[in-house]
Amino acid sequence: MSLRLLNHPLAEHLITHLRDKTTKPVLFRNLSYQLTLLLALEATRDLETVEKNIETPLATCKGRVLARPLVVVPILRAGLGMLQPFQDVFPDISVGYIGLERDHETAVARNYYFKLPSVRDARTLVVDPMLATGGSASHAISAIKERGAEEITLVCIIGAPEGVERVRQDHPEVPIVLGILDAGLNDQKYILPGLGDFGDRLYGTHA
Ligand code: PRP
Ligand code: URA
Repeated sequence: MSLRLLNHPLAEHLITHLRDKTTKPVLFRNLSYQLTLLLALEATRDLETVEKNIETPLATCKGRVLARPLVVVPILRAGLGMLQPFQDVFPDISVGYIGLERDHETAVARNYYFKLPSVRDARTLVVDPMLATGGSASHAISAIKERGAEEITLVCIIGAPEGVERVRQDHPEVPIVLGILDAGLNDQKYILPGLGDFGDRLYGTHA
C-alpha cells in the first residue's frame, strides 16, 4: 500500500483555513474545491495513456490520451464536497455514489445508498474528505471491489494514522492520497486537530 501526501505550500495554506473554526460554509466549500483539485492531479499522475496521431494546424504529430475510463465515487454526504473538481478536470468521468453514515455512539458506518456505474475496466477513485477510523473508506472499497473493480485509489483531505492503518490492513493494494496526515483520534473518533465534522461544516448543519 502506498501513502502519498500533498507536500505543497498551497495545500498547507488551504488546509489551515479549512481547519479554522471561524471559516463559514461558503468559504469552506471553496477551499475544499481548491484542495480537491490538487488532490485530483496528485491521485491521477500515474494514469495510463495511449498514443494518438493528430494534426495541428501546422503539422501531424503523435500525442497521448487517457487510456481507460475513470470513475469517481464520493462517499455521501461529505464526499460530495470533492466531486465537482474531478468533473471539471476530467473530460470523461462517470460518477457512482455510496451513502455511509457513522453512528454517533459507535463510530461504525451504516450503508444507506449505493449506485455504481460499470467499474470493471475503469480506474476508480473513492473520495471522502475525512479518513478517521477508516471504517467508512474500507466499507466503500469492499463494496466497490464486489462489483469487479480492480484498480481503486482512495483520496482524502485529512487522514488519521488509525484510518490509514485500517485501509492498509483491509486493502493493502489500494493507494491512499491525502492532503495531510494528522496526529490521531479523540474519544469520539474525531480527527485531531482535524476540522470537526466536515459534512456539517460543508452544509452548515451543525447545532
Ligand atoms: C464522515 C466522513 C467519513 C467518515 C469518516 O462522515 O465524511 O465518511 O465520517 O469516519 P471513519 O473513517 O471513522 O469511518 P459521516 O459519517 O459524519 O457522515 P456525513 O458525511 O453524512 O456527515
Ligand atoms: N468525520 C468527520 O467529519 N470528521 C472527523 O474528524 C471524523 C469523521
